[in-house]
Amino acid sequence: MTGFQREGRALACDGVALEPIAAAHGTPLYVYSSAAIAARYRAIDGAFAGYPHAIHYALKANSTLAIARLLRDLGSNADANSGGEIDVALRAGFTPGQIVFTGVGKTNDELARAIDLGVRSINVESEGEIARVDALSRQRGVRTTIAVRINPDVDARTHPHISTGLKTNKFGIPLGDVPALCARTRDRANVEIVGLHAHVGSQITSLEPLQHAATALVDLARALAAAGTSIRHLDIGGGLGVSYDGSPVPDAQDYANAVLPILRQAGLSIVLEPGRHVIAPAGALLTRVIDVKPAGDDRLFVIMDAGMTELIRPMMYNAFHRIEPVVRSDAPENSCDVVGPLCESSDTLGRNRMLPRPEVGQLYAVLDAGAYGSVMASNYNRRLLPAEVLVEAGAARVIRRRQTLEDVLALEA
Ligand SMILES: Cc1ncc(COP(=O)(O)O)c(C=O)c1O
Repeated sequence: MTGFQREGRALACDGVALEPIAAAHGTPLYVYSSAAIAARYRAIDGAFAGYPHAIHYALKANSTLAIARLLRDLGSNADANSGGEIDVALRAGFTPGQIVFTGVGKTNDELARAIDLGVRSINVESEGEIARVDALSRQRGVRTTIAVRINPDVDARTHPHISTGLKTNKFGIPLGDVPALCARTRDRANVEIVGLHAHVGSQITSLEPLQHAATALVDLARALAAAGTSIRHLDIGGGLGVSYDGSPVPDAQDYANAVLPILRQAGLSIVLEPGRHVIAPAGALLTRVIDVKPAGDDRLFVIMDAGMTELIRPMMYNAFHRIEPVVRSDAPENSCDVVGPLCESSDTLGRNRMLPRPEVGQLYAVLDAGAYGSVMASNYNRRLLPAEVLVEAGAARVIRRRQTLEDVLALEA
């Protein structure tokens, strides 16, 4: 087993105890398991083995350079969602041909950079974007490969903020509009449609929406081929969820078993853009108790040195994360609201948790914080971005140092 396990009373990451890591590097601190990242990446790759596929890890989930490099070394390609992520991908060693560029609002500068680099595909989200890619490519005398992101009007049955495949969501092009749009695009000399793309949401834990999206892609690819537009790949996006609370959810093999029989019918290679499924359980956020006080009923407020600035998911998506003392305690249990230090009542990591009565200074782990944790961190209240540590081959290595106030103020006049 890789990742975060107890060794006796103490929580460890791949056998390396967390308490000494926190003592050495301070808190709040993100800790990642290199072995868990590798195992999770390989599980997806293995599940789709035997069918032509390319995994483009979604950098938006966690793009710390060392993590991006680790995934590249494992054989991954990259899904970049901004000019910044393209540049991080390049610095991590991905070649332009290994990058797909996604995103609902790409600026002309970002598109021009992607065109100049010659990324594998720009996943376009509107006819207006196709026109801009065409014009920018014409200025450069090149033909740019694009994939058309469809909006299949699928309910991903996930939190509304991370549902992206309904017609009321801002993403993609309505399915019914795509054939005519592709026919018009054939007249454009400087773009070539090489793929169709769908991404219907994140933290998806039922397979039907993913099957529905796959079916929409396959049917459309066939209709387009019949009308003279032959594409090369179907990009099925990311979205496969993880279990934050221990309840059973589909794994990579279940996912492949569900979608491959559908995708095979098109006979096209596939692109996958997993983010969360690769990295969420491979990371934890370590935080120490600053204060404990009565909450006015029988609960306690446990005030941590990490909050919404280090992990915004509970506040933004009402997301559940397991919160555990790093060293198990025999203190009697009490219902606790585990909160951060920020000046917002929504700055809460977990409500009504039964925990051994916490003590000031005690170290806690917020589990499954590898995805959409550090990448969504902020400097609100002038807080400083935490350090990040990667546990690899029995040792903990700092992969991002803690931000200093000087780093922050360096940008200011
Ligand atoms: C286009 C696209 N691809 C991939 C992903 C990664 O999703 P996830 O982390 O749920 O796998 C996202 C995230 O929302 C996305 O917008």
